Amino acid sequence: DGYAQMEAWIREFPEQGLWVPGGLTELPRVETRSVVLAGMGGSAVGGDLVQALFEPDLAVPFRVHRDYGLPPLPEGTLAVVVSYSGNTEETLSAFAEARKRGLPVIAASSGGRLREEARRAGVPWFALPEGYAPRATLGYMLALLTHLLTRLKVLSPEAPERLQEAFRWLSGQEGAMTREDALPRELAEKYYLRLPLLYASRRFFPVVERWRAQLNENAKTLAHTAALPEMNHNEIAGLHHPHRVLVAAWATFLHFPEDPPRLEARIRHTAELIYEDVLGWNVIRPEGPTPEARFLWALWVGDWTSLYLARAYEEDPVAIPRITELKTRLAQEGPA
Ligand code: F6R
Repeated sequence: DGYAQMEAWIREFPEQGLWVPGGLTELPRVETRSVVLAGMGGSAVGGDLVQALFEPDLAVPFRVHRDYGLPPLPEGTLAVVVSYSGNTEETLSAFAEARKRGLPVIAASSGGRLREEARRAGVPWFALPEGYAPRATLGYMLALLTHLLTRLKVLSPEAPERLQEAFRWLSGQEGAMTREDALPRELAEKYYLRLPLLYASRRFFPVVERWRAQLNENAKTLAHTAALPEMNHNEIAGLHHPHRVLVAAWATFLHFPEDPPRLEARIRHTAELIYEDVLGWNVIRPEGPTPEARFLWALWVGDWTSLYLARAYEEDPVAIPRITELKTRLAQEGPA
């Protein structure tokens, strides 16, 4: 059933992270002054996450584009176009725009139209392993992007090894994710029948965005995210109405050791100030021996939480009927 399938995929995350994509050494050595990753949903999130993880080390600007076409970009920007299915219309439109502008392009998909169009255009194409839901390939995506960016000298040569080391450490953390008193089980209990409010620093905001997407798609629940310190300048005032919603809201603050020193005090005071308006709050301090390990640990906690919450809501964590139906209906409207 869907639960066992998603559980197997989530369990596999550390193993996926050790993947080394084929074809890396055949890549032409292009001078890269900036990188844009075009994709949607589960095919885009890896871009934001790699950027957050390696932010201090990125040699050139890196941005993620989730829309049709492409934004204005510096000359010579490399477009990395990722669509797991290869058939997402926004992403195919970004691919076409990159070709039209004559940008260097690299594509990745498990097949679909993106593979055909990359082949036709003679664009390097990376094969993603088949048979998954896109959001269940995050380990592969992180491995692919890290290897790719290293090969393009956007990341330093030791980045893939640092990431692999962290994935190897993470594989020893399965018990901490699954046993009776595991943190993800505790979180799923807190979030059940409640609205999760997920907060992290600006740099690590993509981590709570991944949590949100996993809660949305796996557990079919709404979740809200915002970044610190920005939310201290607006949202903190708004955490007062509507009262009926907020009495059922649970705030979680993700706090990494790499966060700015003032985050500690900001979280403490924010929690104290909103205390009477929300049902409760907690702080999660990611565990692990290195920054990469803590980052992956935090991602995995979110994945497992979404799985346990799917069970609590009796939802099939694999099926995403609304997303599928929307794509079908749009296809019936004709080509984009
Ligand atoms: C499904 C998922 C979605 C898709 C998105 C784009 O697991 O996570 O967010 O990733 O609809 O589709 P692809 O990835 O095929 O380009």
